Amino acid sequence: MAVLILGGGLMGLALAHQLARNGQRVEVLSRRRSEAAGFVAAGMLAPHAEGLSGDLLRLGQLSLERIPAWVEQIEADSGVSCGLRRCGIVVPFASSAERDVYPTAPWGRALNRSALEREIPGIGPGWQAGLLFEQDGQIDNRRQLMRALERSCVDLGVRFQEGLEVLEVCQENSRLQGVRVRNAEGDLETLKAEQAVLCCGAWSGQLLPELPIYPVKGQMLSLQGPREALPRVIFGPGTYLVPREDGLLVVGATSEREAGFTDGLTPFGQRQLQAGIAALLPEAKHWPPMERWWGFRPCTPDEGPLLGASAIEGLWLAAGHHRNGVLLAAITAQLLRGCLLAEPLSADEQSLLSAFSYERFSREPRPLNA
Ligand code: GLY
Repeated sequence: MAVLILGGGLMGLALAHQLARNGQRVEVLSRRRSEAAGFVAAGMLAPHAEGLSGDLLRLGQLSLERIPAWVEQIEADSGVSCGLRRCGIVVPFASSAERDVYPTAPWGRALNRSALEREIPGIGPGWQAGLLFEQDGQIDNRRQLMRALERSCVDLGVRFQEGLEVLEVCQENSRLQGVRVRNAEGDLETLKAEQAVLCCGAWSGQLLPELPIYPVKGQMLSLQGPREALPRVIFGPGTYLVPREDGLLVVGATSEREAGFTDGLTPFGQRQLQAGIAALLPEAKHWPPMERWWGFRPCTPDEGPLLGASAIEGLWLAAGHHRNGVLLAAITAQLLRGCLLAEPLSADEQSLLSAFSYERFSREPRPLNA
């Protein structure tokens, strides 16, 4: 019986790829591939620039470490380049005092104004200090990684069902039996399965309402800059600029917690991005606009993902990656492969699975003086 992957976004494809290259029969069920966060994100690999901490930083660092080999696998299986760039990320600050208290400051190189200008020629005058994280980078998720993953899955025999909506997870005595779906023709059917993985992104909570996952809308845009005009990603407060190899500049992103699943661009959101561009790299205001789009980050109360077992035996979770989906795709796919295939996991991997279990949201708070 095939493993069902519920959701054809980045997590779904990354996991389908890992399972298929380990000889599993895999079927990916997806409603509308264009709404997947993997097509919407900027593709930053930024555990340090994002200022992560605790277990989330550890998870991000482990994924970052594994990304080059993971990308090599995908490129070898697909014959398509993923657009990985280890270009480093600069976080600018208004003062060195702000820089020195940044949570990941110990992992970065401290920059003063003149070092900042050397790293980012043309950076706006409001920034007096910075942190350079050479180890962070980016991947061209929208144009390359998603296509490479799709190609490698198809070549490895993964079956795709598009336009299909998963309506219900069917269980008996807390054991997975399958899923109830509405197919592209509008017909209802039940697909039997012993193992399935929930990777429906921001929509995961609609399928299993007990999962604390809600959407955080992000609006974005892109500009066409000259090739090599910006050597590194700039991660400013509220706006970041991600330069692709061909000069395309991906600009993100609003973070709208109240918007729910409201579609569309807003003048306020777009003005926020324009103001961010002007402050970070004034010359980019004159670069021609290319595209504008929006998407929904899947967020949890502590902004960390839900990974591993669910309350239903046979149903696994790979959801809720919030701002860090592209970064965490490699480790998520490998951890979940480990769970589904009952592979031996290292102590570090086990401790991360436990840290990101859905159960952390249902555990009783510890008494204060325990
Ligand atoms: N990773 C950046 C964002 O979600 O906007």
